[in-house]
Amino acid sequence: MYSFKGEFPKSDFYDKTAIGIVNVFTTRDIDLHRRYRRLLSQGISESSLNTHVPAVDSQVRLAMQRMGEEMQRRGATDVFNWFLCMATDIIGELSFGESFRMLETGEAVAKLNGLRTTFPFLVKLSYYVPIPFISEAVNNRKRLLQYSETSLGRHYRIVEEEGEDAKPTLLSKLYKAGEDGLSFKEIRANAQSYIANTLTYLVYNVCKHPEVKTKLVDELQGLPDDFDYNDVKSLPYLNQVIEETLRLYSSVPGGLPRMVTKEGAEFNGHFIPGGYTVSVQPYSMHRNPDVFPEPMEYNPSRWENPTKAMKDSFLPFGGGSRVCIGLHLARMELRLATARFFATFPYAEVSSAEGFKEADMEPAMFFLLSPKSHRCLINAA
Ligand code: HEM
Repeated sequence: MYSFKGEFPKSDFYDKTAIGIVNVFTTRDIDLHRRYRRLLSQGISESSLNTHVPAVDSQVRLAMQRMGEEMQRRGATDVFNWFLCMATDIIGELSFGESFRMLETGEAVAKLNGLRTTFPFLVKLSYYVPIPFISEAVNNRKRLLQYSETSLGRHYRIVEEEGEDAKPTLLSKLYKAGEDGLSFKEIRANAQSYIANTLTYLVYNVCKHPEVKTKLVDELQGLPDDFDYNDVKSLPYLNQVIEETLRLYSSVPGGLPRMVTKEGAEFNGHFIPGGYTVSVQPYSMHRNPDVFPEPMEYNPSRWENPTKAMKDSFLPFGGGSRVCIGLHLARMELRLATARFFATFPYAEVSSAEGFKEADMEPAMFFLLSPKSHRCLINAA
């Protein structure tokens, strides 16, 4: 469906996902999409990303440091929060050459999220009636977010006003494209949540499966002390763990609808008239027992020698001309963060601190998938 005879346009479902905003993700106009895609694709291709490895890696290392510090202070670390901060800072760094400083300010966000989980009613009430310890957390978070927005805003204004990027970055071309550009907020929202959700479920599942953790940690122990991206890029088991996480916890598990072009189309002997909406749902494809035996089992080794049917059924990044443009960046972040996390915390386990339990990790599925409670506490040792 995604590469049928050239291209089926996206369906009107996408008009509803971002009302009034046309961008590379939502546009249903094939020519406009090609223009956007051309603009973006040079900067974000696998080879041009190589120059950005040090910037990505330094944010990944900072995330590990912050998790370690939180562990000392709190007795557990909320990996969901830190991966979200990390992904946000990486996209800020690659877009503007300056990070959002979320890793520096992440505690304030985490603290408020924690209060929201424990005292949801009080947090809501605090917007109307001052409740000292909650209002303080709300204000701290507001102040720190303003600070990050301001530091990024400076660079954004330079790019916008002067039309030139003094410090050319991966996504500079977007801003030079004026109205045709993709608004920053939407790329940020994509990148942040997709990466954070995947890494959170990865760490959680590896910790829940001791045999997987042992095999992964053994593989990582073969790396030099000062390993870099080139050392981890092709590690077989690390990549199998990532594939298995993307299979069971696809950030975009629901159907990705397309509109059949006016001449209609035949799929497996079934004719579908033009104008009809068709879609493939990664959630079901990834759990087809004929393709993935014991589909509900988290078993990275199934990716050791994937069959053609497995590769054809695997859609975590979508498919065809609208396949995720950030997939090389995503894979880079997933590999580096997984390697650094389990190299730094080889004895990591799921924590039971602060009442954290399995139900917190139940996936909430709308267009995106994320852990229900928006937290994942790990005993990072
Ligand atoms: C684990 C990480 C990620 C996952 C699972 C993921 C998944 C996806 C999926 C399934 C689509 C297709 C949606 C559709 O057909 O409607 C998509 C498109 C897209 N993604 Fe990602 N993504 C990830 C990371 C990123 C990152 C880091 C960026 C930003 C640099 C990004 C930017 C985009 C854009 C701009 C599109 C629209 C492409 C187009 O329509 O031509 N993604 N992504």
